[in-house]
Parts: sequence; structure tokens; C-alpha cells
Amino acid sequence: MNREVRVFQDLESLSRAAAQLFVEAARQAASERGRFLTALSGGSTPQRLFQLLASDYRTEVDWKLTHIFWADERCVPPDEAGSNYGQAREALLGRIGIPEENIHRIRGELEPAEASKDYALSLRQFASPPLEWPFFALVLLGMGADGHTASLFPGSPVEATAPVLAVTAHYEDRPAQRITLTPPVINSARLVVFMATGTAKAETLRRVLSDQYEPEQLPAQRIDPKDGDLTWLIDEKAASKVR
Ligand code: 6PG
Repeated sequence: MNREVRVFQDLESLSRAAAQLFVEAARQAASERGRFLTALSGGSTPQRLFQLLASDYRTEVDWKLTHIFWADERCVPPDEAGSNYGQAREALLGRIGIPEENIHRIRGELEPAEASKDYALSLRQFASPPLEWPFFALVLLGMGADGHTASLFPGSPVEATAPVLAVTAHYEDRPAQRITLTPPVINSARLVVFMATGTAKAETLRRVLSDQYEPEQLPAQRIDPKDGDLTWLIDEKAASKVR
């Protein structure tokens, strides 16, 4: 794995750098493999990136060749405020003319076990056998102040082998039932990009980026793309304790 940490003055410059990485990953995947498979995350941090992709960078991506998946989803219907799909639809997907069949959402309206089975089947349709999931060209992740990423929370099983898990989480006032990709899927991606901002994440980020490996407590440390690259895009506040 090749890890890079880039520090930005604010969310705007960070989001523009993320948009640039998205455009480059999309172009490379389209030219090498004829399609671009990417997984998005929820939370507040990527919202500006979504807006930029739908505006300034919209014409730089071939959306017909782009397939959108999610790193995780909250178990709520797609039109509820907590839906990661709903947020992305509002800020990005509804504005770029992407074919409906290229959107592979996690069906948060189903029972968690069923939603997880359904999503595992979607992944299988794009799988690179013998794997049961695709090699994503780009996975976008966030990190919570508790060190969670996607919906891999502190204390959750480290050795998950299934590609998709249904979990119960308690974080802020967000929906608790969730569906998440697991590390084997994320770690087979060609590029994983984390975005994190704000002082509240500074101490956790220091620990996550340190040499002390605590994957039970800091699930973000479980992300370690085997043959891919890992890029952290963070703002100065989040970086304030990182040496
Ligand atoms: C979600 C996520 C989650 C998120 C972090 C950071 O569905 O909530 O995908 O892992 O990325 O909680 O969220 P913020 O960007 O809001 O800090």
C-alpha cells in the first residue's frame, strides 16, 4: 500500500482536490477497462464534493461509464433525510444525467438481513471471480470522531470475511441499523480516499495515522488497500495533532 496524507486549508480546497482525484480515477478506469466503479459514503463531509461533481466537474466525467455503489447505508427509505443514497441523489445523481441502471444503491427500506443479501448480489454482478465483489477503482470514505469508517464501528468484528454486513451502531443521532461493505472489499480497491475535517477528529486522526495498530478501537485503521493507494484528504484542524 502507498499512503499519502494531504492537508488543506479548508473544506472547499479539500473537496476540489477530491473532485480532481475522482475525475482522474474515472478517466483512467474508463480508458483501461471501459467502465468506472466507485463507492460513495454518507455523512456531511462529502456533500461539497458531490455539489462540485454536479457543477464545475460535471462534464469531466463520462457518467454513462460510471457505476455508483455505496460504502455503507443507513436502513431508512431512500427519500428519508438519513439515507446516504438520498443525499447523493439530491446533491449529485439527480443532476448529471447518469443512467438509472448505473446506480447500485443499498436498499435501506428492506429488513437489514435482506438489504445486505440484496447488496451482496449487486456486487456479485460486477465481481472479478473468484472474488464475490468488484475491484473498485475508487472508494470514498469518511471517518467519525470515534474512529469508525463506512459502518465499521469500534468493537465490531475485525475478521469479517463476508463482503457485506448488517450492523447496529450508535453514533450521534444517525439511524442505527446499517449495511456496510467490509474491509476485504474496500481493501481490494485501486484507490481509497478518506476525507476528514474539523478539530473534533484531530485526536482520533493522530491515533489512526500513528504506528500503533488498534483495529478493534479504530476501524479506520482496518483500511489498508493491498495493491492500491490510500489517500487522506484532511483540513488543518483535523491535522492539528498529526505529526
Ligand atoms: C455514514 C458514513 C460514515 C461517515 C462518517 C463521517 O453513513 O454515516 O458513511 O462512515 O463517513 O460518520 O461523517 P461526517 O462526514 O458527517 O463527519
